[in-house]
Amino acid sequence: MRRDRRESDVATAAVSGAPEAMSGLENPAVTPGVADDSGTLGTPLDADGTMPASNSALLSLRSVTKTYPGTPPLTVLNHVNLEIRPGEDVAVVGPSGSGKTTMLSIMGTLDQPTSGQVWIDSVDVSSLNEAARARLRAETIGFVFQQFFLLPTLTALDNVAEGMLYRGIRRHERRTRAMEALERVGLAKRAHHRPGELSGGEQQRVAIARAIAGGPRVLFADEPTGALDQTAGHRVVDYLQSIAADGTTVVVITHDQGLAARFSRRVSLLDGTVVDNTVSSTSLVDPRLNLIPETPAGYVGVAAPDSTMGGSR
Ligand SMILES: Nc1ncnc2c1ncn2[C@@H]1O[C@H](COP(=O)(O)OP(=O)(O)O)[C@@H](O)[C@H]1O
Ligand SMILES: [Mg+2]
Repeated sequence: MRRDRRESDVATAAVSGAPEAMSGLENPAVTPGVADDSGTLGTPLDADGTMPASNSALLSLRSVTKTYPGTPPLTVLNHVNLEIRPGEDVAVVGPSGSGKTTMLSIMGTLDQPTSGQVWIDSVDVSSLNEAARARLRAETIGFVFQQFFLLPTLTALDNVAEGMLYRGIRRHERRTRAMEALERVGLAKRAHHRPGELSGGEQQRVAIARAIAGGPRVLFADEPTGALDQTAGHRVVDYLQSIAADGTTVVVITHDQGLAARFSRRVSLLDGTVVDNTVSSTSLVDPRLNLIPETPAGYVGVAAPDSTMGGSR
């Protein structure tokens, strides 16, 4: 019992969703960054074509650059500007190695830029020390990863409840909130099952429940459907969108264009630069398709125009 608890401490340290160690970047040695100083494409326009007031943003990247030392140094993000407003649902797309995970890690305060600023809720993250950053992260941000990072010895309910250990929430309250979060992802009936007794899609929904149970303002998901079949993947997106509809900002990395098309906004990265930033004026998907139990046969969103977009696995 004692041992279980210690393992779970490791697996939930300071992050609603997964340990920092597990947020590491995959695919070393892929595409080096390409210099392009324009940096102007990242800021979305309002519906009327004007620049949004930056104080309406929940999250801003301001000329964020990430360069890894080496010979030559590798610029992975190149003057990225991006603003995300409360309640937005955003898909981040781009080929493997384009900087998606790096950008999400920096937006999520798991990693720091070489230059530029990250603002969350009108706070310049670089002005915070590590403890304050960890607190901001624990209170504001939930994470979901391609690998579910559930503890095999714990039930779904305990996996979700333990994610709130560092929020200073009492055990009874943690379990109540955990059950509510499982209900939001349609898994109340599976609450007492261990991960090994759940399908991949169900395990990922447990991970989503863990990420939202503490009531974050923003949920980041890095290839959350990467290990799932298409039907389970669409269902996971159904739940992510219902979470966004309830007011949580949701930012999802995916290399699946069909899934990306279901988000209100798509940010495309190429070689560390935002090359496209598209807001749908109308949803491309009939909202009635959301939250129905099974994805309709043949439903693939819009056609995937870019078969070269490999996964970042
Ligand atoms: N710690 C690191 N040191 C050096 N290079 C890294 C490191 N982390 C990531 N990279 C490189 O940064 C680039 C972007 O990686 P990443 O953000 O994981 O891309 P994506 O998620 O789009 O596949 C890749 O070329 C990768 O090899
Ligand atoms: Mg990645």
